[in-house]
Amino acid sequence: MAAIVEMDHISKAYDVAAEPGLLGRRGPERILDVVTNFSLTVGQGEFVSVIGPSGCGKTTVLFLLAGIRDPTEGRISVCGRRPAESIREGLSGVIFQQPILFEWLTAEDNVLLPLRLRDPGWWWWPPRRARYQDSVRQLLRTVELEHFARYYPDKLSGGMQQRVAIARALTLNPQVLLLDEPFGALDEITRDRMNIELLRLYEERRLTILFVTHSIEEAVFLSDRVIVMSRGVFSRTGSSIVREVRIELPRPRRLALKEDPAFFQAVRQGRVALREAQFVE
Ligand SMILES: Nc1ncnc2c1ncn2[C@@H]1O[C@H](COP(=O)(O)OP(=O)(O)OP(=O)(O)O)[C@@H](O)[C@H]1O
Ligand SMILES: [Mg+2]
Repeated sequence: MAAIVEMDHISKAYDVAAEPGLLGRRGPERILDVVTNFSLTVGQGEFVSVIGPSGCGKTTVLFLLAGIRDPTEGRISVCGRRPAESIREGLSGVIFQQPILFEWLTAEDNVLLPLRLRDPGWWWWPPRRARYQDSVRQLLRTVELEHFARYYPDKLSGGMQQRVAIARALTLNPQVLLLDEPFGALDEITRDRMNIELLRLYEERRLTILFVTHSIEEAVFLSDRVIVMSRGVFSRTGSSIVREVRIELPRPRRLALKEDPAFFQAVRQGRVALREAQFVE
């Protein structure tokens, strides 16, 4: 399996020195090691979830992969490029915990935004817009929102807003999706539905997915591999991958799988790995 995401001995530290005080002097340098010696390779078409205690650095890892932050040490490549380049070229897409939609744009204009920003005629958008109409409707259909194209975000529920964010992340037809607890704020039924939708997109589009979640069940249900991070900032060094659980459950996965003893067994394995990870320095 060809590697599509590679993180090679990554460290990320933040300078958390106090802000300048009355005399304009910065407080003493204080470095917070968030991630230390973190190496991860994700193969093309793989679905990998990341779990770990709150504050261990999961979002930090995702931000590094999305080019939002730079590593202090180590090398990262996504689709053979630096992370920010991969995002810019539309090879990877990112979905955050909050949908982060533009309130003054309708659902379809939010989904169109990545194309608009790349269009050579972006400065005179109205006549150019029509050429994208079919593809945006198709994307909204993909996330079952075709009847809500003209709605503004504040008229959509949380789950619908997150679906708009997913459609937007798919606009440039990426190979890799990076998701940070995208369904954390949803009720269980909606979350189940979104999980099934995500799996359908994953299979139809042959995506590679890196998925951050708090939920072991969700990680097991979706993934081929669950990686577990250590406590990180609460211990002496930054967080790293300390356990890995392979999920051998067959695909395609349906909700009925959640009643299967093999599923319970995999969840138990994940829970044990997470518990053990708390004690690894
Ligand atoms: N810009 C920043 N400057 C300084 N410290 C930061 C910054 N961003 C994150 N941190 C610190 O890095 C650590 C890891 O944060 P991160 O958001 O990656 O955790 P997380 O695993 O995603 O947590 P959660 O599960 O609660 O979302 C925390 O201690 C946080 O305070
Ligand atoms: Mg987080």
